[in-house]
Amino acid sequence: METIKKNKFPIVSIVAISNDFIIGDGKKMLWYLPNDLARLKTITLGNPLIMGRKTFDSIGKPLPGRANIILTTKRNLKNDIQFDKYFVQSFEDAVIKANDWIVKKYEKNEQIKKKIFIFGGGEIYKLAISFCSQIELTLVDVNLRNGVSFPHINEEKWDKKLIQKVAGNKSCPPHSFWVYDRKIKL
Ligand SMILES: NC(=O)c1ccc[n+]([C@@H]2O[C@H](COP(=O)([O-])OP(=O)(O)OC[C@H]3O[C@@H](n4cnc5c(N)ncnc54)[C@H](OP(=O)(O)O)[C@@H]3O)[C@@H](O)[C@H]2O)c1
Repeated sequence: METIKKNKFPIVSIVAISNDFIIGDGKKMLWYLPNDLARLKTITLGNPLIMGRKTFDSIGKPLPGRANIILTTKRNLKNDIQFDKYFVQSFEDAVIKANDWIVKKYEKNEQIKKKIFIFGGGEIYKLAISFCSQIELTLVDVNLRNGVSFPHINEEKWDKKLIQKVAGNKSCPPHSFWVYDRKIKL
């Protein structure tokens, strides 16, 4: 696990949370924010995603242009190389798979900008947060109280930068985009 902290590619959580750190109800997200989805696509395209089996099931299909690395304890699930869908049984194997995917797919000069994205859900954020050097965070201005949560962020340990505030409308709540950078390098 110590070697993951020194991983060649930065490990970055990408998440949308409510004011009280809720990320979903266990099956789905609790809001629909089209511009957040567009932003998420722009940020993650060309990079590997690590996600839990429940999150993968909730999305329903591999996301194109990215490696979809899915953590599960089930041993009977089949990889689908054509659609970049890979099942792994541990977080360590997920990071190894993500590294291999980048190195095989991209030339050295392209690898420089690559990141490994932690794509959720709650169980996987908890496994991964101590290895993350950055969090791409969408703060959704709603209070939900119940649901699957993101691990507590100790604000003293992160530099946070506001990227953009988005006003709410009839169909989506106000939200804002933030980037958190870990103050002390891993
Ligand atoms: N707001 C956001 O940004 C965001 C992002 C992603 C997801 N979500 C939401 O998060 C919720 C799902 O989160 P969740 O915590 O319930 O589930 P999850 O983290 O998506 O998946 C949990 C599953 O991952 C596998 N797993 C976990 N730890 C493992 C380990 N150490 N080794 C091997 N496999 C492991 C297990 O799969 P098996 O049961 O197959 O063994 C486990 O059941 C949904 O509501 C989803 O919509 C929100």
